[in-house]
Amino acid sequence: MDYVQEKFFDEWAKEYFLNKVPQYQKMVEEMFARTAAVVHENNVKRVMDLGTGTGILAMFADEVFSSPDIVAVDVSQEMLQAVEKRWKDAGKPSEKLTTVKANFEELEIEPESYDVIMASFSLHHIVHEEKGQMVKKIANGIKKGGLFVLGETMFESQAHPLSIMSIYARKALNGLVNVGISQFWREVDFCQKIIKKQGEYMATKQMWENFIKDAGLTVLESKFTAPWLTYGYIIARK
Ligand SMILES: C[S@@+](CC[C@H](N)C(=O)[O-])C[C@H]1O[C@@H](n2cnc3c(N)ncnc32)[C@H](O)[C@@H]1O
Repeated sequence: MDYVQEKFFDEWAKEYFLNKVPQYQKMVEEMFARTAAVVHENNVKRVMDLGTGTGILAMFADEVFSSPDIVAVDVSQEMLQAVEKRWKDAGKPSEKLTTVKANFEELEIEPESYDVIMASFSLHHIVHEEKGQMVKKIANGIKKGGLFVLGETMFESQAHPLSIMSIYARKALNGLVNVGISQFWREVDFCQKIIKKQGEYMATKQMWENFIKDAGLTVLESKFTAPWLTYGYIIARK
């Protein structure tokens, strides 16, 4: 990741509103409900949240899995500060959260050490060639029987620029209605970044499933929760 991208996320941390988009909230809630249905919550002792942002998944994981140790990773120091603040403001014990400032590419994950590794809307920031390697690194870090949980903007197909524009027109309108003008412009900005291939590398659901299978994991569930906005999740077991 280049310096410009890192600064972009540092800036975004100051007004991060993704959880005000109702389809995002729905996706995360459904993803956690389904994850909880396939793990025994008491067995979840250690969780990693990759590209934690302001820690939305970390907060959910603490509640859904009965306070596991959570390692929240992000390249943006501002995002990590936001997670730490959110955690402290919620009165959660500081020893349960470890924040790690790292780029996915350089991150080392101890083998077989996590019950659940999760990532939402973060792994699409790495190029396709590195996604497969990253999923293998994740698979290696999960304990036998543990889960990889991915929430993402997944395309139905490797979209043509015109179809990307039409998807992002919907996302921009949805952002405007539910969040406000800042989310509208952010979606417009994402659209041109995808088309110019600047830090936004959207894969299809099928591509993600293939990366996951190639890493030796079994896909348990794979679903679009808001197909018209390309939101969805995949749950896989080692
Ligand atoms: C769109 S936000 C999603 C945050 C959070 N998971 C959520 O659902 O709200 C993407 C996050 O991934 C982080 N990120 C992007 N590329 C990264 C990389 N190569 N290494 C580490 N973190 C990265 C960004 O800093 C940002 O916080």
